[in-house]
Amino acid sequence: MYEEAIRVVLLTDNSLLNQLTTHVLSTRGKQMRPIMSLLVAQLCGKVTEQTINGSIAIELLHIASLIHDDVLDNSLERRNKPSVNALFENKIAILGGDFLFSKALEKAAETQNMDIIQNISRVGANLADGEILQLANSKKFKITEDIYIEIIFKKTASLFASCAQIGALSAGANPQQIRTLGVFGECVGMCFQLRDDIFDYYSDNIGKPTGNDIREGKITLPMLYALTNSTNKEKARAYTLLQKAELSGEEVSELQQFSIKKGGVDYARNKMYGYREKAIAQLDAFEESD
Ligand code: IPE
Ligand code: IPE
Ligand code: MG
Ligand code: MG
Repeated sequence: MYEEAIRVVLLTDNSLLNQLTTHVLSTRGKQMRPIMSLLVAQLCGKVTEQTINGSIAIELLHIASLIHDDVLDNSLERRNKPSVNALFENKIAILGGDFLFSKALEKAAETQNMDIIQNISRVGANLADGEILQLANSKKFKITEDIYIEIIFKKTASLFASCAQIGALSAGANPQQIRTLGVFGECVGMCFQLRDDIFDYYSDNIGKPTGNDIREGKITLPMLYALTNSTNKEKARAYTLLQKAELSGEEVSELQQFSIKKGGVDYARNKMYGYREKAIAQLDAFEESD
């Protein structure tokens, strides 16, 4: 039902747009966000039609943000396939992303629940805010851990918080439960982005390029920690590389190793464990369940 509904909502009489949406739906990703909504709804009572429509809206919003994100990050691979910008071009990818964003809001409206509609609209604004903040700080070395945390909260954790809240809202949870599950979702989202940022330092096959943050001059927590804990000489070398317009494979690897050796990846991993503990603690308010 969910799979069919997501396909139907994107069908149009525009063949180029259909090519784009067919490509986008041809690999489905992990679907962490709708799963979060569905599980939370179950935890709070039961999955309703509002949960299904809200979950579809969330996944559409997420896919739209990935399409735009790959334009911003000049990234050519997504979910083990060429990204939309690689297959078509940036102009089409921007419009295709806009199309999906609008469809997400349409689907949210179908819930006829003002709190869910407001929640999804707000999170769309947060995603753009976070991505702009990140762009404003790339290739710059004034970024602090507080700014990094603000970026990942806005661009990723706010969406996970929203997934949990929408699941709870759709199942008629009480305000206290909605708040607690919002914090749970937010902490899971913080873990998720920290883990994703750590992936950039290894060559695991995760269906998208690694080393891309470094190529784009994105200073995420592992690099930020390494830079603040190195000698002036080491820092100068890293700055020079991070500011280059293009990096060779060896240079990317040098920066990855620098960050790992300086303990940046371990530091980020421990931060992630901290959020995991906080997430799990929120669930104490609920009884054991599947
Ligand atoms: C990618 O999210 C964007 C980030 C917040 C890191 P996912 O890794 O959940 O992407 P898919 O949907 O599974 O492809
Ligand atoms: C998450 O950041 C992007 C969005 C919230 C859309 P990334 O830029 O790290 O995501 P990936 O690594 O491209 O999936
Ligand atoms: Mg990206
Ligand atoms: Mg990433």
